[in-house]
Amino acid sequence: MTLATVRGWVRDASRIALLSGAGMSAESGVPTFRDAQTGLWARFRPEDLATEDAFRANPANVWDWYAMRREMVAKVAPNAGHAAVAAFQQRHPGRLTVVTQNVDGLHQRAGSPGVLPLHGSILEDKWLDAPRPCCIAQPPVEGHPPRCAVCGNLRRPAVVWFGEMLPVAVLAAAEAAAHACDLMLVVGTSGVVHPAAGLARAAAGRMVVLNPEPSDLDDAAQAVLRGTAATLLPQLLDDNP
Ligand code: OAD
Repeated sequence: MTLATVRGWVRDASRIALLSGAGMSAESGVPTFRDAQTGLWARFRPEDLATEDAFRANPANVWDWYAMRREMVAKVAPNAGHAAVAAFQQRHPGRLTVVTQNVDGLHQRAGSPGVLPLHGSILEDKWLDAPRPCCIAQPPVEGHPPRCAVCGNLRRPAVVWFGEMLPVAVLAAAEAAAHACDLMLVVGTSGVVHPAAGLARAAAGRMVVLNPEPSDLDDAAQAVLRGTAATLLPQLLDDNP
């Protein structure tokens, strides 16, 4: 299927869902997870950094790793792909919903309204254990990580770790967007992490994969466009490219 055909599907679709993964931000300079050389999970073990057990065992190590990624994300900018999505949403209010596995906030910074961040946000933190009145009464004591001065409860990154539930309301809204769409664009994800990958397969309408490499979702797609987010999305979503 050619780019021109998919452009026609975009033009005809009244409800579009766009599911993005780490490849969406690759051209902004944010590393993906599973690239064999540069991917984060090629250089770090997820079980040491992205689980609640890892955080409880070594909170400083995990906190500092997320702080390093947070600083890196603050230095980069949305790319032409993020910008094309946001511009389309501004020209066509209510027609495209962004569902993202990314925690970097780049869709939001590009100006996309109503982004559904399935895996939380690396820009925020939250209490590890349910906050008690003492946790709320005063600002946490600075540290790696910050903690409640009274009970010692720790702040942790507001991301979803392996083994954790996705935020219920965000997942429900994402499922609703998938079930209601007549076109699902799946951008820059390997499609191996669930339930996010299941949303692509649950699309009510056509599903199109945009990825320079093969992904686990190619078999379910009506079209696969081999290219990058920052090159393909402007061509697909601009009204007059
Ligand atoms: P992965 O690293 O698994 O996959 C990134 C995908 O992006 C690959 O399929 C690449 O081929 C593709 N890609 C690379 N550069 C691209 C570009 N410029 N344009 C488009 N695509 C490109 O990342 P995710 O699928 O997002 O979860 O990973 C899913 C989840 O696994 C993440 O949200 C994270 C991780 O563990 C948590 O941390 C909970």
